[in-house]
Amino acid sequence: MTMDVTLNVKRYNPDAAKPASYNQEYRIDLEDGSSLLDGLIKVREEMDGTLALRCSCRSAICGSCAMRVNGRAVLACNTKMKDVMPKDGSPVKVEPAGNMGVVKDLIVNFDVFWGKIKAVKPWLQPEGPVPQGEYLAPNEAMLHLAGVMGCIMCGACVSDCTVLEVDKNFLGPAALAKAYRFVGDPRDAHEKDRLKDLTKYGGMWDCTRCMQCVQVCPKGVDPMGRIMKMRDKALAAGYNNTYGARHALAFTDLVRHGGHLDELRLPIKTFGIFNVKEMLKLAPIGMRSQMVGKVPPLFPKPIPGIQNVRRIFEKVEAKR
Ligand code: SF4
Ligand code: SF4
Ligand code: FES
Repeated sequence: MTMDVTLNVKRYNPDAAKPASYNQEYRIDLEDGSSLLDGLIKVREEMDGTLALRCSCRSAICGSCAMRVNGRAVLACNTKMKDVMPKDGSPVKVEPAGNMGVVKDLIVNFDVFWGKIKAVKPWLQPEGPVPQGEYLAPNEAMLHLAGVMGCIMCGACVSDCTVLEVDKNFLGPAALAKAYRFVGDPRDAHEKDRLKDLTKYGGMWDCTRCMQCVQVCPKGVDPMGRIMKMRDKALAAGYNNTYGARHALAFTDLVRHGGHLDELRLPIKTFGIFNVKEMLKLAPIGMRSQMVGKVPPLFPKPIPGIQNVRRIFEKVEAKR
């Protein structure tokens, strides 16, 4: 059985007289079980040899074929065409991965990606006498790292990270997941230095927990989960004097105290009441809230059954 597919591909040719991106449609016949990559290769081989894309293993191993399909990052070789064909018969929209500059058509420049990976020092830094053989670690101590070591550096998470979209300084999900791989390695002697560095601007506290990286990662690396684990570790190590850390602690304290989020006290506890610069930044929001009658009460009461909320906190904390 074959299927009739229309691809709408976002293209860009840097060698054109006036380089600008444009969309081009291709209509192809494909075997039923074909992947998106099969379709693109067919276009390139049989219809338009100028279409540029990157691929190698065709088995979700090399990480080279990440791109956006219908607005979401995927590995083209790991995506069945059937699964991304819109039900209404409209074309499958194919674009280069996001948050990285386009080199040509579906090929993006990974310099930014690798720069961020390098920034987290992705190598083991052991101390003490050098062993005769390898640096050994007990199996149990490495189990929680197995998932993160499955990263194939495809950049799908980076493509769809909502913070990177607005702040290029953010280390991003792939680099932070890689950082966790070394923070959590019992053979590394620099856990604290690493955590300290990662609490700076652009690090672990800048993630907004949008979950995009978790959803698009083809290898189940769970970058956001790793970032949250590093936050816990950073707080436990005493690195709690950043806006991000104070925000998390204030959030928890307020919910534990009243059973709801006190939006008046949250920014005050996060930034500090004498932090004039930050307080002034919040003034317009305060005024807008006042105008629509949304200013939280000055002295909010705990919700009925607050003891149940506090019991949940106790249970969670006892498990740590
Ligand atoms: S959860 Fe954090 S790291 Fe992951 S995509 Fe969202 S903002 Fe980026
Ligand atoms: S974390 Fe997942 S999505 Fe991100 S680079 Fe690694 S394998 Fe790709
Ligand atoms: S071609 Fe290697 S991951 Fe897709």
